[in-house]
Amino acid sequence: MESASIGYFVGVTYWGKGFASAMIHLATEEARTMGLRKIFGIADSRNTASIRALERNGFVRNGERLTMLKMKASTDIVLSRVL
Ligand SMILES: CC(C)(COP(=O)(O)OP(=O)(O)OC[C@H]1O[C@@H](n2cnc3c(N)ncnc32)[C@H](O)[C@@H]1OP(=O)(O)O)[C@@H](O)C(=O)NCCC(=O)NCCS
Repeated sequence: MESASIGYFVGVTYWGKGFASAMIHLATEEARTMGLRKIFGIADSRNTASIRALERNGFVRNGERLTMLKMKASTDIVLSRVL
C-alpha cells in the first residue's frame, strides 16, 4: 500500500487558531489526489493539540508506540488514516 507520513509546525503566535487542523486536512486531500492509500501522523504522547488535530481529521491510533531516542522521556504514538 502506498503511504506517507506528515509533519507540521505552527508558529507559536498562531497556536489554537485551527491552522494545524487545516494543514492536515489539505495534506490529506493532496495525498488522496496523489493516489496514496494511507497516511500516518506521529505525535509525542503528551502533545494533546497535535493528537487532537490528527483525530479531528479522521486519524485513529493504531496501537503502535515509538521511542525514537533512548534519552527521550516520552513516547511517540502513531495515528493513521486510510484514504
Ligand atoms: C501541535 C501544533 C501543530 C498544533 O497546532 P494548532 O494550529 O495550534 O492546532 P489547532 O488550532 O488546529 O488545534 C487542534 C486541536 O488541539 C486543541 N488544542 C490547541 N492547543 C491546545 C493545547 N495547548 N492543549 C490542548 N489542546 C489544544 C484545539 O482545541 C483543537 O482541538 P478541537 O478540534 O477539539 O477544537 C502546534 O502547537 C505546534 O506547531 N507545536 C510545535 C510543533 C509540534 O508539536 N508539531 C507536531 C509534531 S507531531
